[in-house]
Amino acid sequence: MSVKYLTDVHAESRTLHELFDADPSRANRYVASVAGLRVDWSRQPVTDEVLESLRDAARAAGVRDRFRSLIAGEHVNTTENRSVLHMALRADPSAAYEVDGRNVMADIHRELARMNEFADQIRANPRITDIVNIGIGGSDLGPAMAAQALANNVHPRLRAHFVSNVDGADIESVLQQVRTESTLFVIVSKTFSTLETLTNANVARQWVVDVLGEAAVADHFVAVSTASDKVAAFGIEPEMTFGFWDWVGGRYSLWSAVGLSLMLLVGPECFGELLDGGREIDTHMIETLIDADRLDDNVVVTLALIGLLHRNVLNRSTKAVIPYVHELRRFPAYLQQLDMESNGKSVTLDGGNVDGATGPVIWGEPGTNGQHAFFQLLHQGTDIIPVDFIGVARPHHNRVDQHDALFANLLAQAQALAFGRSSPNEPHRNFGGNRPSTLILAEQLDARTLGQLIALYEHIVFVQGVMWGINSFDQWGVELGKELASALSPVLSDENLDPQSIEDPTTRSAIEWYRANRST
Ligand code: F6P
Repeated sequence: MSVKYLTDVHAESRTLHELFDADPSRANRYVASVAGLRVDWSRQPVTDEVLESLRDAARAAGVRDRFRSLIAGEHVNTTENRSVLHMALRADPSAAYEVDGRNVMADIHRELARMNEFADQIRANPRITDIVNIGIGGSDLGPAMAAQALANNVHPRLRAHFVSNVDGADIESVLQQVRTESTLFVIVSKTFSTLETLTNANVARQWVVDVLGEAAVADHFVAVSTASDKVAAFGIEPEMTFGFWDWVGGRYSLWSAVGLSLMLLVGPECFGELLDGGREIDTHMIETLIDADRLDDNVVVTLALIGLLHRNVLNRSTKAVIPYVHELRRFPAYLQQLDMESNGKSVTLDGGNVDGATGPVIWGEPGTNGQHAFFQLLHQGTDIIPVDFIGVARPHHNRVDQHDALFANLLAQAQALAFGRSSPNEPHRNFGGNRPSTLILAEQLDARTLGQLIALYEHIVFVQGVMWGINSFDQWGVELGKELASALSPVLSDENLDPQSIEDPTTRSAIEWYRANRST
């Protein structure tokens, strides 16, 4: 399966101006509420006809059946022969999610109960003031993004730190901010074999041992992993190890024990609300795709298909995500992994080549900062870049005037992009308009709406992956670089290894330069 399903989809030739003139009701008809989110795609280049042809494509691609396979626990991650059931992590305990014929709900809730108990203990322990999460990719971006997003809910005694990069500057700057006696390190790695994470974990371990001795490791380290044997080899006891399962992909793992640091910071109740929010979007998917055949009412599918219209029909290769919510400033980075690691693929499920473009480059910065940096290109550049604007009605601070200004800017940017302003005598002041955006709004940013937002994008990625006929749940594209780095690493530092052993001349030349200049 691939973009052949889109051959009957044609771009709308009228501009957004003309579309609104012809049908002002699109301002209400192309808006829907899903859980706590108000989603508005009226500024997208679609009409009822375009949407219908896109939905026909989704039907032809079997989106419903593929979603049914996903939630039935079929091994939809074919190259790793795994189920993909992160939805189960946020499901009601009475749900019946099964992996290989075994209901996984009891396992999930047993681990969640352990997390809750541990979080209550730590939050009640005045000795602990700093939580340092060490992980990378899905073992970092989710908890780090969410800890910022929910900063308002963080326990007043606890400070959050996230170390991910193998660049020693990362851990160094955190170790300079914390005291050994009062710091809890949470080592998060699905595989417990990721170079960056193990390097930083070993540095942290040694730092604790140097000050407090070996016995202190038990009090200052917990681990989150699917590889309990490797955690044990690192020296962390089973009772300080929180598990999850191979059917939870790294970039879909915030809902599992990977969210432990977040739970320590915001508490089990707030973490539970995040799960509730995710579940509400799952319910929307299930109600409109499984319980009934109401694909037309499915907001996720609509947004996913609009994304395909841009990527495959209009040939737009990037998408900007601009949160007008300071606390969501890491959300674009989080989405980069979710979307680009999932759908940055060119091989189909049956091993062929995809017959069109797949995942776009996702990028973004918070509004209004982006307006004073790259919005010039969004308004007048030669590329048309679709934008998702994310905003809230109520902030967590009392500076209502500032929030009004912020929200006015969100609306103004969407308006300027869509409708522009002509300036016939001064071409440099001309705004062509007809630049698309979607507005995703919530009354306020809380754990529940954050869960909804994340799950909304997760399902969009899923639907797009189905349409492209790719496996959205593996990430083989990261492997080669990892292998080459571990082969090159010794040659950089070991004088006894001859750089001439590196066949590739351009890499060899850079190695020679590095060896001549590296610190010793
Ligand atoms: O290298 C990519 C990746 O495997 C991501 O998919 C994952 O989220 C990240 O590395 C971290 O992996 P782990 O949790 O196993 O340390």
